[in-house]
Amino acid sequence: MTTTARKRVAVFPGSFDPITRGHEDVVRRALRFSDGVIVAVSHRSSEAKQHLFSVAERLDMIGEIFADTPEVEVAEFDGLLVDFARQRRATLIVRGLRGALDLEYELKMALTNRELNGEIETVFLAPTAELSFLSSSLVREVVSHGGDASRFVGAPVLRRILGRLPLDG
Ligand code: PNS
Repeated sequence: MTTTARKRVAVFPGSFDPITRGHEDVVRRALRFSDGVIVAVSHRSSEAKQHLFSVAERLDMIGEIFADTPEVEVAEFDGLLVDFARQRRATLIVRGLRGALDLEYELKMALTNRELNGEIETVFLAPTAELSFLSSSLVREVVSHGGDASRFVGAPVLRRILGRLPLDG
């Protein structure tokens, strides 16, 4: 077997509205088998949903969370994920798989991406068990009712949530 100096870059795409401790866990796990992870915030997916944070705010929060981890880069993308991955020379797409409910959606997405670009492989990661229930939409729900989200999100996210309370709705 020969080794090459080529870097293995993974893209971790999502809405990240907001990034949760579950997402952070996935990024750190992805760094175990990649040289760098690009956390890629999608513009498109945010259009359909009622969002809590703007894309710019999400990018800032993710940047702050991984400020001490140079292997993690934050980026935004519009259009097809596989095109973004190709432009950034990433060969892996990473997604967290929390359970059976995620599976159908994730599998469809992975197979579609493979049809679009067979060079890019999707890798599913199981999150830490204690975080496997967590999602951005649950965080938004808790926050919209004034609940305590401190166990679910990192300090930069919590700061922004507290900074804008009370929220509408
Ligand atoms: O956090 P989300 O909302 O589950 O993330 C979904 C996301 C952004 C990964 C997905 O919607 C996506 O990749 N959008 C970009 C458009 C695309 O490439 N679609 C084809 C794959 S189905």
